[in-house]
Amino acid sequence: MGHLLLLRSLTMLLLVVPVCLFSFSFPCIVAQSDTKTSARALDALLQDYAYSAFVRPRTGIVYNGYVPSNLTGMKIAAMRLRSGSLRTRGVKIYKEFGIPIGVTESPYVERLVLVYQNLGNWSKTYYPLPGYTYLSPVLGLLAYDASNLTATNLLELKIRASGDPLSITFQDMMSAPAGSVAKCVWFDLHGLTHFSNATSGNTCSTTEQGHFSIVVESVAPGPSPSPRREKKKSNSKVWIIVVPVLVGLALLVLLAFLVLWLHKYKQGHDQLGEQTGTAA
Ligand SMILES: *[C@@H]1O[C@H](CO)[C@@H](O)[C@H](O)[C@H]1NC(C)=O
Ligand SMILES: *[C@@H]1O[C@H](CO)[C@@H](O)[C@H](O)[C@H]1NC(C)=O
Ligand SMILES: *[C@@H]1O[C@H](CO)[C@@H](O)[C@H](O)[C@H]1NC(C)=O
Ligand SMILES: *[C@@H]1O[C@H](CO)[C@@H](O)[C@H](O)[C@H]1NC(C)=O
Repeated sequence: MGHLLLLRSLTMLLLVVPVCLFSFSFPCIVAQSDTKTSARALDALLQDYAYSAFVRPRTGIVYNGYVPSNLTGMKIAAMRLRSGSLRTRGVKIYKEFGIPIGVTESPYVERLVLVYQNLGNWSKTYYPLPGYTYLSPVLGLLAYDASNLTATNLLELKIRASGDPLSITFQDMMSAPAGSVAKCVWFDLHGLTHFSNATSGNTCSTTEQGHFSIVVESVAPGPSPSPRREKKKSNSKVWIIVVPVLVGLALLVLLAFLVLWLHKYKQGHDQLGEQTGTAA
């Protein structure tokens, strides 16, 4: 009986330790996806502020909005459109965006709002891109239902170009350092990052909505060791996650063996108990 009690407490201990280790490793994972969720929260906040730029809005007119003072440096705008007009006429110029004929939204709505974002000096904060340098602010174009202009936390509509792609012609751009090639970067709404070639150095194209910018790969000038240090840092980040998980897994395997052994031990004990006629 004493043996069994000891084994039970040991089992409990082994159960608790991996759980603690697992939960210990969670903050690292959360921290990594943190910027993604804060960027989505920013989208929701900017939708609200862009909508308040509308006072008896006419369709097809650009309304510049105001951002809260804690986000000074960003610019937003909103434009209300009939869905049919978007599809059959497009929008020749909406800030840096050119919207061709044939863009449709889903789910279908009668009227929609295109919210424009220019993240300015906040681009790196909300869309960090290690190994790259931004040549232009991150610009966003997101579509929402226009049926209730005081609504908040609206879900984005999916917009899709069925013919020509949308174009983004970046205006206030730093010139690319000699020898480096400007690349378009697109952050989709699922948090994925896509790269493509820029045309004439400052134009990107897209068939969907999201956030866009122009970047170049950061090259360390001369013998500066900064990119290597960056790599090491991200390596150690990976280990912070991997080590507790591995230790946790090893302990789980150990626990499985222990439980198996305990089961066998108990069976043997029970049989012994039956044979000698004493209740276990
Ligand atoms: C900025 O201020 C607005 C309004 O006061 C608030 O809702 C929002 O959470 C703040 N955002 C950040 C990123 O601090
Ligand atoms: C961006 O610039 C504004 C002033 O124009 C400043 O208040 C704000 O703190 C800056 N944001 C960042 C992330 O540096
Ligand atoms: C619009 O949205 C606001 C905020 O969510 C809500 O209070 C209001 O009732 C809605 N109006 C309509 C007509 O649905
Ligand atoms: C982008 O440009 C590079 C070099 O200019 C070229 O090798 C590559 O094929 C291009 N990619 C696409 C998708 O056009």
